[in-house]
Amino acid sequence: MDFLALVKRRESCRAFTGETVDAASLETIVEAMRLAPSATNQQPWRFVVVTDVSTRETMCKGMQRFTSDAGAFIVIVETGKRLTVKGMEKVKRQAWTHHDIGIAASHGTLMATELGLGSCIIGWFKERRVAEAVGMAKADRIRLILAIGVKKTNDVRVKTRKTMDEVVRWIR
Ligand SMILES: Cc1cc2nc3c(=O)[nH]c(=O)nc-3n(C[C@H](O)[C@H](O)[C@H](O)COP(=O)(O)O)c2cc1C
Repeated sequence: MDFLALVKRRESCRAFTGETVDAASLETIVEAMRLAPSATNQQPWRFVVVTDVSTRETMCKGMQRFTSDAGAFIVIVETGKRLTVKGMEKVKRQAWTHHDIGIAASHGTLMATELGLGSCIIGWFKERRVAEAVGMAKADRIRLILAIGVKKTNDVRVKTRKTMDEVVRWIR
């Protein structure tokens, strides 16, 4: 699909059929995430791919109801920062790792769209519950979760976005 068409087709899916997602598609999605750019190429992430039914059920207790029909989750865990990145973040007052993780999530959702799957970035979840479900150390932080699944409908919503004039300023 041409890139702008793909961007227009991607939307947050909150109505999945409950069908499973094939392993090859999930591998392709995490490959697209693994190749995402990151500040100083730190790659401050681990991707936990969850298809196991009972783990998903436990995770869903800490997430919005629609997630129970997703076929898989990709939990994006922020890993420890290198000292240089910690220093850069402090000097620049920027959370580079958050940017990095957002970019990786975006790669994942666009890849899922290209594969004909639905996806939703989940930022609102009970972190401790999800962490317990996927067996994580207390020090690790879950920043985002991707819900991936088969979409109930192939219709694409009209996007609600600010206008070009509201968000773009040209200097030319
Ligand atoms: C960082 C981030 C966190 C989000 N968290 C949630 C969430 O917890 N639950 C949800 O239903 N949607 C979540 N979304 C999806 C947004 O609501 C959605 O992207 C936005 O409304 C635009 O709609 P669209 O994705 O369909 O184009 C999140 C999106 C981002 C980028």
